[in-house]
Amino acid sequence: MQKTLSSAMILLAINVPTIQWAIGQSALDRRVDSLISLMTLEEKIGQMNQYNGFWDVTGPAPAEGNASQKYENLRKGFVGSMLNITGVEEVRKVQKIAVEETRLGIPLIIGFDMIHGMKTMSPIPLAEAASWDLDAIEKSSQIGSREAAAMGVNWTFAPMVDVSRDARWGRVMEGAGEDPYLSSQIAKARVKGYQGDDLSDPLTLAACVKHFAGYGFSEGGRDYNTVDVGTSTLYNVILPPFKAALDAGARTFMNSFNDLNGIPATGNSLLQREILKGKWGFKGFIVSDWGSIGEMVNHRVAQDGRAAAKLAIQAGSDMDMESYLYIKHLKELIESGEVEESLIDDAVRRILSLKFELGLFDDPYLYCDETREEVVVGSAEHISGVLEMAKKSIVLLKNKENLLPLAKSGLKVAIIGSLASDKDSPLGSWRGLAEPNSAVSVLEGLENFSQNNYTFAKGAELVTEPPTFLKEVKLNTTDRSGFSQALEAASAADVVIAVMGEHGFQSGEARSRSEIGFPGLQQELLEELIKVNKKVILVSISGRPLDLSWADQNIPAILQAWQLGSQSGNAIAQVLFGDYNPSGKLPMSFPRNVGQMPLYYNQKSTGRPNNPGDDIVFWSHYSDVSNEALYPFGFGLSYTQFDYSGLSVESLANQQVRVKVNLKNSGLRDGEEVAQLYLNDHFSSFTRPIKELKGFQKIHLKSGESKTIEFFLGPEDLGFYDGEGNLLVEPGEFTIMVGGNSSPTLSVNFLLK
Ligand code: BGC
Repeated sequence: MQKTLSSAMILLAINVPTIQWAIGQSALDRRVDSLISLMTLEEKIGQMNQYNGFWDVTGPAPAEGNASQKYENLRKGFVGSMLNITGVEEVRKVQKIAVEETRLGIPLIIGFDMIHGMKTMSPIPLAEAASWDLDAIEKSSQIGSREAAAMGVNWTFAPMVDVSRDARWGRVMEGAGEDPYLSSQIAKARVKGYQGDDLSDPLTLAACVKHFAGYGFSEGGRDYNTVDVGTSTLYNVILPPFKAALDAGARTFMNSFNDLNGIPATGNSLLQREILKGKWGFKGFIVSDWGSIGEMVNHRVAQDGRAAAKLAIQAGSDMDMESYLYIKHLKELIESGEVEESLIDDAVRRILSLKFELGLFDDPYLYCDETREEVVVGSAEHISGVLEMAKKSIVLLKNKENLLPLAKSGLKVAIIGSLASDKDSPLGSWRGLAEPNSAVSVLEGLENFSQNNYTFAKGAELVTEPPTFLKEVKLNTTDRSGFSQALEAASAADVVIAVMGEHGFQSGEARSRSEIGFPGLQQELLEELIKVNKKVILVSISGRPLDLSWADQNIPAILQAWQLGSQSGNAIAQVLFGDYNPSGKLPMSFPRNVGQMPLYYNQKSTGRPNNPGDDIVFWSHYSDVSNEALYPFGFGLSYTQFDYSGLSVESLANQQVRVKVNLKNSGLRDGEEVAQLYLNDHFSSFTRPIKELKGFQKIHLKSGESKTIEFFLGPEDLGFYDGEGNLLVEPGEFTIMVGGNSSPTLSVNFLLK
């Protein structure tokens, strides 16, 4: 029978000095150890058990997960964390049970997918990545975490740092695109934004880096599909952003649904024990993905839930999200001697340490303050913050004869497309607790910022019923009854703004697509529009790179506007009118057709590099489409013009080099440019990409202004990882290329000694 401890005894055991950062790690360890010494085995296993809230689901609901069972375990102290419980009132209810009704009163960590905002929505992460603006991304992450923390949450399941090169995969919207270097820099900015520099500040959250690892390489871009990649890709492409997030102080990791080279990530010792907790020295804890421990039965590596629990704990998964298997089987696995109790102690130590660092033992209701919730959520500062972020995320892809920016008055403008008035799609997927239909639509934004004469016609509905997070989107593929009104409006207008793309729920988890053109009847409508008016501006709204090849051939101006969050329409309008000069650059290559997938700029040379000038066919190429992207990684136009000159490189001591280049704004408007540095290692013992991003700077220049930019590269930038994950820095000749996208015009060579 469990003995009830008096609160005085517990206090004696754990109430040593309270300011975490001041007391140092060893005092924290002592507090954790003394608490662990008071815990029964069941209570320890309870800390490793995470339940979903009582109403919301972000994955298939397991059969066992009924509310009364959950409450019962909560009261026994057999729950360490809950997810999807939000709002001070609700969080306080469950925290009160954990703190006041359980034997030891250990508070819960409250987790939530605060991915790009809570109520005030920032752009989707892929869009933010297009800003290449690390300060802005950090600030945007801070806005989301402030709102989530004010609503009782203290742990976000972000950043998602899965590099992906396949636009068919719906979850590309959640990451930072195809490049490991850009993804790493963004991962660091996000961790800083969420965690700040004091986890016990009630307006910060613990970060959770996910999905460890390889999820972005699911075969064919089909979500949850198998992943088979070689060590070169694993160590040089997939893992670097995780390591960067860890170096930035990320306190937790989430493993992944996929198998990696035959072993599910959740049961993968190489990833979790050897690399993350071993070589990288990670001291935090790893949570499973939703039900992923149980899914190892479906993967057919565990014959039942008991075997799955054993595999997961042995491989290093510390917390079970919604599989109910740790709570069910771990005790027996320990008692039978199949699992060492030291593994449980290690997991619990990691979990409790974070609870201490979050300040929950000093005040379990630290994140539960109604007044703070009222003041922080939806504040004016947050609204202007997400607007700034949204403007910076837009990418100008084409602007023939300077059709853009548009005049703010005196024009007759037809706005066409159902996404133009859509106030829901811009919220994107993983939209926190955003009110449905709460974004500023394009139509509203245009009206807010100008006095033109607008006519709006949808042309066709995109969907036949309002889409939701849980169900497949139903597209309109037959009803063209609005076409004639749209064409009439377009033919009578001076200029047409066609707003086309994906609904917000067409990307995200479980939203893989095999075609990545405009869904429904939009392409057909676009083709009709250009027949009646040549001045069409396409505003493309999407959660992934779409196939814009027809549009590129036929439409004079194209703006990639992603899903930009609450202030979407205002941001788009400011760019269309030139109040903000677009500065975004693509974080993923835009394809010429879906058959080019996977597509990425940092390809390898191969033994038969493409040779388009040769009329013999035996080169690595497609017969029917070029190898190159339609719009390459790093590409984006501005209303002004940037010129690069004077590229030079200087070798310094200790395998460091300094690179200098002059950048001039030679156009008529002030603007921002992302100067990008790419590297090529001429010969190395492993095959290496033909170019790799190794540095970038976002620079603001007034019209006519110039600046000399400096980059420093060190061994980490010049080297690469071998098949065991060791960094090799090999002497020899390198080329450095600098420019405004991944096909730079300037290059210079140097010799690394
Ligand atoms: C997703 C995770 C998410 C979790 C909890 C899963 O389906 O893969 O990214 O954090 O649900 O909502």
